[in-house]
Amino acid sequence: MDKKMEKEMNAQINREMFSSYLYLAMAAYFDAESLGGFAQWMKAQAIEEMAHAMKFYSYIFDRGGVVTLDAIEKPEGSFKSVQEVFEKTLDHEKFVTKNINNLYSLAQKQNDNASLIFLEWFVTEQVEEEKNALDILAKLKYVGDKGQGILMLDKELGARPMPTLASLLGQVTDEAGA
Ligand code: FEO
Repeated sequence: MDKKMEKEMNAQINREMFSSYLYLAMAAYFDAESLGGFAQWMKAQAIEEMAHAMKFYSYIFDRGGVVTLDAIEKPEGSFKSVQEVFEKTLDHEKFVTKNINNLYSLAQKQNDNASLIFLEWFVTEQVEEEKNALDILAKLKYVGDKGQGILMLDKELGARPMPTLASLLGQVTDEAGA
């Protein structure tokens, strides 16, 4: 695979792993605040981010490249409010979208059709990632940061199923082991 693309995709593995770490830090904040539903939502998000990293990991090897892992930055761990957490989530997802778009532009420049097809999944995923944060922020504007509304939202977000890495990577076999 092209060396510049390899370098940029390795950097994206790092950003996805940082995203996972950041959302785990947010989960820890919510658990410390006894908001188990918000924490559950963030833990599920952390697993999704790991799956994103693994998709890049596999793709680099599929194209004959080499995966090089770098240190993961320390995430912020203290927040002032539930709203602040989701504002930061949205900001972070916008940052990730920008990087996915940069990778897409690089693939276009290199006439790298395989990478364009691979990256399309991420372009679509980022629309959903930003929308999820926006939807939660919109609800938070109605309920405010404290009281009954927050507990209702905590219950709603706690209903998010906890994914497994295997299910997200499409590696699930049925119970019979097929
Ligand atoms: Fe991997 Fe939330 O983007």
